[in-house]
Amino acid sequence: MTAEKTANPLRTVVNILSPLPLVVLVGAYFTNNLTINPIQTATQRAGDIAIIFLLLCLACSPVNTLFDLPRVLKLRRPLGLWAFYYACIHMLSYVGLDYGFDFAFFNRDNADKPYVYVGLITLTLLSALAFTSRRWWKVKLGKNWKKLHKLVYLAGAVAVLHLALVIKGNLLELMGDLWKPIAAGSVLLAALTLRIPAVKTWAIAQRQKIRAARALKTQNPSLQPTALDHPAPAGEVRVAEKVLKSE
Ligand code: HEM
Repeated sequence: MTAEKTANPLRTVVNILSPLPLVVLVGAYFTNNLTINPIQTATQRAGDIAIIFLLLCLACSPVNTLFDLPRVLKLRRPLGLWAFYYACIHMLSYVGLDYGFDFAFFNRDNADKPYVYVGLITLTLLSALAFTSRRWWKVKLGKNWKKLHKLVYLAGAVAVLHLALVIKGNLLELMGDLWKPIAAGSVLLAALTLRIPAVKTWAIAQRQKIRAARALKTQNPSLQPTALDHPAPAGEVRVAEKVLKSE
């Protein structure tokens, strides 16, 4: 483990908390506390957890853009890997527990279920990303590594499509219990929107304006008497004044 890795306690928290849903799921499965159809429920829950991790992974960049928290960016790899692990558990639960790894039966039974193919595409994308997530690949692929890992957005979009198809089976006739695909799709859309350069620049400017206003308030003792105890850094105030003047 490198020094850079040990320096982020958030990552440790993520890696300690992330297996807990699996522990709860396995516990509920083996104590018969998983509804009347435990295999289907286990598959569904693992799928839900996988997509949540994937969306959390996609939310890291927007969170940094909005709140200037670069440490959060370091969580993208562990969150993405946990999404991949839970997606594997989800797939294994379906293929293994439901079909007993009988692939001939699996193929026959799923031939008319497009969402299964869409799930397979998602898992293939996540596998490629997980496999190349190691530092060695980053160095080997150079600039192409970043391009390759933008595929995480495609994986997110295909995962949302998989979820939407599962809920109704036909995207064009979507009705009924839609809150899951709508919620997941909204998070994905927000993450994608904040990647648009113009939107990102605007969001950062707004963040800096707010910070600038706070820094100026902190510098002015008449506005905030306790500020003398916690003066804002001079550099921050200069940036703040510049930003406010440019308004
Ligand atoms: C080979 C890959 C995959 C297969 C065969 C597969 C299969 C399935 C099946 C059969 C269901 C419906 C379960 C049921 O209601 O009976 C399902 C639901 C779901 N899958 Fe997948 N899936 C795959 C990959 C993925 C991936 C990669 C993700 C997310 C990253 C995912 C997320 C979900 C979610 C969120 C649900 C809905 C669960 C619910 O009803 O709440 N799946 N999948």
